[in-house]
Amino acid sequence: MPGSFSESRVGRWFAPGRVNLIGEHTDYNDGFVLPLALPLGTTCTAAVRPAGTVRLRSLQAPLDEVAVTMADLGATGWSELPTWAHYPLGVIREFERRGHEVRGVELELDSTVPLGAGLSSSAALSCSVAIALRDLFAPSVPAAEIIDIARTAENVYVGVPTGVLDQSASMLCTAGHVLFLDVRTREYQQIPFDLDRFDLQLLVFDTGSPHHLMDGEYAQRRAECAAAAAELGVPFLRDVTGLADIKRLADPVLRRRARHVITENARVLRVAEELRGGADPRAIGPVLSAGHASLRDDFEVSAPQLDTAVAAALVAGAYGARMVGGGFGGSVIALVDRARAAATAAAVRDAFARRSFDTPRTFAVTPAAGARRIE
Ligand code: GLA
Repeated sequence: MPGSFSESRVGRWFAPGRVNLIGEHTDYNDGFVLPLALPLGTTCTAAVRPAGTVRLRSLQAPLDEVAVTMADLGATGWSELPTWAHYPLGVIREFERRGHEVRGVELELDSTVPLGAGLSSSAALSCSVAIALRDLFAPSVPAAEIIDIARTAENVYVGVPTGVLDQSASMLCTAGHVLFLDVRTREYQQIPFDLDRFDLQLLVFDTGSPHHLMDGEYAQRRAECAAAAAELGVPFLRDVTGLADIKRLADPVLRRRARHVITENARVLRVAEELRGGADPRAIGPVLSAGHASLRDDFEVSAPQLDTAVAAALVAGAYGARMVGGGFGGSVIALVDRARAAATAAAVRDAFARRSFDTPRTFAVTPAAGARRIE
């Protein structure tokens, strides 16, 4: 396929991964999130092809070229196809299901988001494909629908019951801002997040411990939250505002899960308010760390590598640190003085070495732009 983009309508689209500043496991509880887009993401090169044909290639899996027909896509079971291909194929199916005809297409995918690091490589992939298909076949589809298409592709065709955090971040984030999103109303606001001005850096530690959204723990947390909401007589845990209410939950596990969601929503609102008011971001540090403790103790989705990175970063002087994404592995963020960034990274590396964990990959991030056509 290299060089085979012979049709005239060839273009290139990019969608980023994300880190979430705060607001974890709140999205499927109809709550609040506050992500920022990474400069890392997926590039999708796309061309219109003869009707009914789909060809896919990923530079991360060059031996896995996929050539199928639209009719094949309708057939049940894609078990013969590589897992990465389920994302673009799911997006194509979802376009078609919604009445947006994808006549025939060839896609080449290339990602700079580390896989399994909790940095939304999946949303970067599905959103990059979705905006390419939109521009080629259905230009009037609004961003909100693209978010739903990308999310449904993952939920239905990959089988991971995620919320809308990752796809919303990839589609809606803007450079220099965090995205405050109310998942219930889908209203959002861009809030300036200028770390340079305060001589700060946001470090990401990719701990290299793979997270396994697909292996059932994530779905179990969703089910526990739904069960807690049902027992409390509300549609979603978002609707519980007072911690006093959760005393009515008989099961201590459900009580802890609910407490995480309620306190996490409050933390998002608090951080958003501080940043909106132009506060020195150092002020949000303790709120980020409290978010980690809540994910570790109440939601029980942390992992030894994540706890080690958070603890070592805080000892090294970080203002706040927390795991990001679904958990059970993946990445940690830490808010540090720029002058302390190298020392903090070294402290985390040393702590990992002492525990014989793989060396984490460390990089600093500033809020980047959301999904867009680049060529
Ligand atoms: C994963 C999911 C998101 C969200 C986070 C936890 O990244 O894809 O929808 O639930 O976990 O905040």
